[in-house]
Order: sequence, then C-alpha cells, then structure tokens
Amino acid sequence: MENIENLKAQMLAQVQGVSDMKAWDDLRVALIGKKGQITELLKGMSSLPLEQKIEMGKKLNVLKSDIESALNDKKNELAEKELNAKLALETVDVTLPVRPEKQGRIHPVSKIYEEVVAIFGQMGFEVAEGPDIEDQFHNFNALNMPANHPARQMQDTFYIPNPKSEDFDDSFVVRTHTSPVQIRTMEAKRPPIRIIAPGRTYRSDYDATHTPMFHQVEGLVIDKNITMAHLKGCLYDFVKAFFELDDIPVRYRPSYFPFTEPSAEMDIGCLKTKTELKIGAGTDWLEILGCGMVHPNVLRAGGIDPDEYQGFAFGMGIDRLAMLKYGIPDLRTFFESDVRWLKHYGFTPMDFSSMTGGLSDNGGSLR
Ligand code: PHE
Repeated sequence: MENIENLKAQMLAQVQGVSDMKAWDDLRVALIGKKGQITELLKGMSSLPLEQKIEMGKKLNVLKSDIESALNDKKNELAEKELNAKLALETVDVTLPVRPEKQGRIHPVSKIYEEVVAIFGQMGFEVAEGPDIEDQFHNFNALNMPANHPARQMQDTFYIPNPKSEDFDDSFVVRTHTSPVQIRTMEAKRPPIRIIAPGRTYRSDYDATHTPMFHQVEGLVIDKNITMAHLKGCLYDFVKAFFELDDIPVRYRPSYFPFTEPSAEMDIGCLKTKTELKIGAGTDWLEILGCGMVHPNVLRAGGIDPDEYQGFAFGMGIDRLAMLKYGIPDLRTFFESDVRWLKHYGFTPMDFSSMTGGLSDNGGSLR
C-alpha cells in the first residue's frame, strides 16, 4: 500500500514534469505501454497468492487509471499550449502600416493598360475581349483578307494545326492583332458600338522593339454618320490625355490596312536627340498607331449594313506606348521577369490610374 502510494506520487510528478508532446509520448510508453512500468507490475502479480493478487490487482488498476487520466489531462494541456504558441507565431497585426520596401510592383504593361482603359472609359468606350487562339475567319477573312491575300504576309503568323482537319485553311492562329475582336463584337451586338479591346497578340519576330508576344489595344466605333473627323478628334483627345500634355502636334499619313478604307497612321510631334526623346515638342515625328474607316466588307462580315452604318477603328501597341511614355529602351526586358527591372520601371499598386486623380505618377499636366 505504502509502496503504491509512493509510486503513484512519483509517477504523477513525472507526468507533471513533461513539457512537450514527444516527452509525453515517451513517458506514456514507459508507464502504461505494453512493456511499461505498471504493465510489468500487473504481469508480476501472477506469482502472488490469490488473496493478495485480488487486492494488488485492484490497487494497480486504480493506479493505472489515475495515471491514464493524469496523462490525458497533461496531453490536453500540452496541445493547448502548442496551439497557442502556433497562433502567437502566426498573428498578423492588421493595424501595421504597409511597408513600401516590401510592396509588389505593377508592370508597365498593366499600367498602360489601366491608363488606356481610364481614358477611353471616360469617353464612353466599353472593354471587349476575344480569344488568343483564333480561327482564320476572325483573324483574316472577315477582316477583308481572304486566303492568299498578300496582306497576310505582312504578319509573321504562328499557325496551330486543327486536330479535326488537314486543310491548312482550317488551322488556327494565335491572333496576330486585336482586330478580330472587331468582328467578334459586331457578331455579338448591334450599333451603336464603342469598344476598346486590349490584349495579347503574337507574331514571329524578335529584336529590341519586337517580341513574339506583345500587347495591342484595338478601338472600334460604329454608328450612323461616323466620319474621319470623329476618328481624328477621338485620337487627338486620347494622345493628349495619355501623354498628359495640354497640346501635342499630330499628323495622319495615308497608309494601307485591308480592313480600313481610307487607312492612316498617326504620328505625334517629338524631339529626338542622341540621348533623349521629348514628346510634344520639336520637329520630329513618331508613329504611334494605325487607324482608318472600317471597310464596308468588314461591316458586312460582321452582319452590319455599310449603307446604314459607318465606323472607325484603330490599333496600337501597348508595349510601344509604355516604352515611349516611360523611356524603356528594350522591349525584350519587359518579359524577362527580372525583379530589379520591375522595381525600377514598375509602379506602386496604390497609384490608381484615373482621369481625375492623375493617370500616372510621373507628374503630368493632368495632376
Ligand atoms: N491591326 C492593325 C495592326 O496590327 C492595326 C489597326 C487596327 C489598323 C485597326 C487600322 C485599324 O497593325
């Protein structure tokens, strides 16, 4: 009796002394495991006379259940302690101010995208989208470029085989421009139409100003009595807002696109020196976009009667706009995912582009 009480006190002290789950488990095995101390004592009783065996058995079983319950309590206590420690480690202080040095950056392409959407959004344009993988109908045919049309050679197209057809005309393309969204928009809605379609485009080309994947933004307006004057006014307002200048010289040079007639390229005035490009001043010109009046065949392909409706369209390179506006010399670096580059040329996520709050954080006249 004396002995067992002592033993119990000892064992309870051991249980109390345990401070982590590993030690707890070792102790559990040592006390009540298959070869544990109490188990051995129970086994050892077999040699005792019956009377003593019964008495001893009772005591040992009481001891065993006391130790078991002490172990259980200890386990709960340890589990709670561990959980609390883990929670303490994982606390987030939501009242801490943001740490600017830890901020991610907005890529210049995303920034220009936001700026362009902010400007045209305010003019009442909606953003439209189309797939990156296009069929030739939307990328070429419906844009007045039937098979074998020489203009198809203007764009170094990546073709994707069509698993359902051997015929080359059925193969898909990764869109060479955002113009197929013009067709998709006409298929989906009736005029008046006023959309811009920013997105990825692909051509087999690679040097300092060309990458196989690049970004364009398409614009399309279709309504009754739309003229070239609307096109000019709209794009003039756009470049002023975009370059954050009160005035900017612009000119339109005649050009050729199969899907517009007449077609033009828009240049903005600038000053080019050996080290600098200054937009809005000087006697040099810089081409920034292609545009024109939507060709009647294109309206027809989109199910719109060209005798009733007219439209204008334009397309420009988002990456090129980023290079011009933010003075980034090599397009290839845009897509190298170098965090040092992004830190240098990227934008703070807190700086939203809006026409009222300021388009960019480089301090233009709109601020
Ligand atoms: N899709 C033409 C290009 O990629 C640009 C353009 C769009 C021209 C719309 C005129 C009208 O070069």
